[in-house]
Amino acid sequence: EKSGYEHFMLKEIFEQPKSVHDTMRGRLLVEEGVIKMAGIWDHIERFKNANRIIIIACGTSWHAGLIGEYLIEEYARIPVEVEYASEFRYRNPIITDKDVVIAISQSGETADTMAALKLAKEKGAFIYGICNVVDSSIARITDAGSYTHAGPEIGVASTKAFTAQLTILSLIALKLGKHNGNLGNADFMSLIAELDAIPKKIEDVLSSTHELVQNIAKDFVNATNFLYLGRGYNYPAALEGALKLKEISYIHAEGYPAAEMKHGPIALIDENMPIVIIAPKKGHYDKIVSNVQEIKARKGKVIAVVNNGDTQVSEMSDYVIEIPETSECFSPIVASVPLQLLAYYIAVYRGANVDQPRNLAKSVTVE
Ligand code: F6R
Repeated sequence: EKSGYEHFMLKEIFEQPKSVHDTMRGRLLVEEGVIKMAGIWDHIERFKNANRIIIIACGTSWHAGLIGEYLIEEYARIPVEVEYASEFRYRNPIITDKDVVIAISQSGETADTMAALKLAKEKGAFIYGICNVVDSSIARITDAGSYTHAGPEIGVASTKAFTAQLTILSLIALKLGKHNGNLGNADFMSLIAELDAIPKKIEDVLSSTHELVQNIAKDFVNATNFLYLGRGYNYPAALEGALKLKEISYIHAEGYPAAEMKHGPIALIDENMPIVIIAPKKGHYDKIVSNVQEIKARKGKVIAVVNNGDTQVSEMSDYVIEIPETSECFSPIVASVPLQLLAYYIAVYRGANVDQPRNLAKSVTVE
């Protein structure tokens, strides 16, 4: 049921305050100052003694994994590698029984992710699942796991499952960091309070940017290319923004770490190149300012996602989307929301079938 929304995708975008909240419910206990996750706690020794964590996934879930790497390395100080399941399974990777493998999958049925997990299991790794579909194949084969409680995701383009995956990865990173002593109590307490405030911030973004983003989308219906740029935690958010646009609107889009621009993609920039740039205050802001200057010097059209009250990037940008400030590590959760809306409306105005994009399936059960 689309509950009055024109498409499942739009409904699911709007469900995110609830789906993120549901994913934290019973786990994030701010008053008590604890994160409860049975899947982690019951196997805490495996995580504590892990040489490294390997995250495997495909598509959007892989983007969540990249952000998971930043989170876990920053707060738990455990080395993390993130791999496409399809590459991992065929390249004879080194896996030992000291490794923890985390698979991220909305459907829990992705063939490549499943095969990669089987391989890791054979080699003795401890395997952990972050799935949305309860009792799915991946959920069943893993030694332990945490479900994202996003509810059924019908739109083929993943939206609420992605932000729920980021929520789980945040909880895991903070929990492990607190447990192994890398994250002090004061920092832990302020981070969990920030995380707890995310559903409300998503709600604010949805109401404050919905109309604005529709208007921006109208100006880009005939675009043939897009670049998405971000740094740090928002580099994977840029990759995800680009993936959303290409899969539903069929406009070619690429995500890049902003600083990589000068190593090639800058050659593409002219007055016909729209560039979405994610530029929150916390997170290499000054560096982003100079990236925007470089783009404007070449007449690129900048659509900037900035924090409320931003001036520097905003003054240089052609379009400005404001979002509330949060900790850098949670900013992709909030910043992704207007990018989902942008992809959605561009696709809708192009007359595309947003819920069922051509050539794509909701669960990829063949390799
Ligand atoms: C993108 C999308 C795909 C999936 C990928 C993995 O919007 O939906 O890229 O993210 O096929 O699917 P799961 O998470 O079900 O393993």
